Amino acid sequence: MSQPKRLRRCQLSVPGSSEKMMQKAASLDLDYVFLDLEDAVAPSAKREARGKIVGALNDLDWGRTTRCVRINDLTTEYAYEDIIEVVEGAGENIDVIMLTKCLGPDDITFCDKLLSMMEKKLKLNKRIGLETLIEEVEAMQKVDEIAAASDRLEALIFGMGDYSASQGVSINDIGGDTGYPGDIWHYQRQKLTIAARANRIDAVDGPFADFRSPDTYREECRRAMILGMVGKWAIHPSQIEIAQDVFSPKAEDVARARKMKAAYEDAWSQGLGSVQFEGRMIDIASIRIVDNTLQKADMIGGYS
Ligand code: COA
Ligand code: MG
Repeated sequence: MSQPKRLRRCQLSVPGSSEKMMQKAASLDLDYVFLDLEDAVAPSAKREARGKIVGALNDLDWGRTTRCVRINDLTTEYAYEDIIEVVEGAGENIDVIMLTKCLGPDDITFCDKLLSMMEKKLKLNKRIGLETLIEEVEAMQKVDEIAAASDRLEALIFGMGDYSASQGVSINDIGGDTGYPGDIWHYQRQKLTIAARANRIDAVDGPFADFRSPDTYREECRRAMILGMVGKWAIHPSQIEIAQDVFSPKAEDVARARKMKAAYEDAWSQGLGSVQFEGRMIDIASIRIVDNTLQKADMIGGYS
């Protein structure tokens, strides 16, 4: 059984210790939030944050927004109770669990089995999704195995903050400029996106800490989008609109895709495999490319 497709143009990170920020997040128009139990929450506040997250999931109106909880990694003393407490407390009001610092396919299998047991016990009428950060060099090495580990897995996220630490990349702030000639994250984004696409799951780009630099954030979104990633994290509300804009196809591109498809279907019916469209050659590969645009437009809706 595979998971439903969800919009992930923007995933907003919200500290689970902050009732105020969770309330604010529920009032925003966005695709996806994850309520954090990991690095945005100090160790002394983690246990209490679970209860606050359960309250926010059950009591706030999240509208169209997908509700995810980010748990601590499986080497910590917190992870199993993170899952147990939030799933027992929120049940069907939670859509996805996000795993941190995954080290290999076994971590995915563990979460999958624990969730299966809980869904049976709680008699949930839905299957909770799973997604994972790829933010350790061990995970990047095994990203293909991780991506294929469970059909519960919906997305891989490139977490460049911890990843920088894990690889020893010299960087001042998360997602920021390193002065490296070229794009420092080109290889990692490519590798992760290929693994995700080969398993029909989403690839998402992680955080950009300098939330007062919207132009650089937009450029980071654009780079991720061109490679086939479906969205990027926001750590501050001001980043949401930018990500949702960059990861939505432009109306003119959707119109052109439909026109191209119609022209190609016409040619196909006349027995032609490749034809001229707006002065360029198109063939069935061109149609596969624009089908991606049309699929995104269908999921987002609102394109006339
Ligand atoms: N989710 C929801 N609301 C947020 C938010 C977030 N991630 N970040 C800021 N806000 C709210 C603030 O509470 C404030 O609300 P108000 O106007 O009702 O008072 C408003 O947005 C403006 O915030 P601002 O004053 O500009 O920033 P701040 O100093 O309150 O917060 C950070 C700055 C960086 C501390 C905050 O954005 C944050 O905690 N981000 C998430 C960090 C995180 O999750 N890290 C782990 C993953 S990388
Ligand atoms: Mg991390």
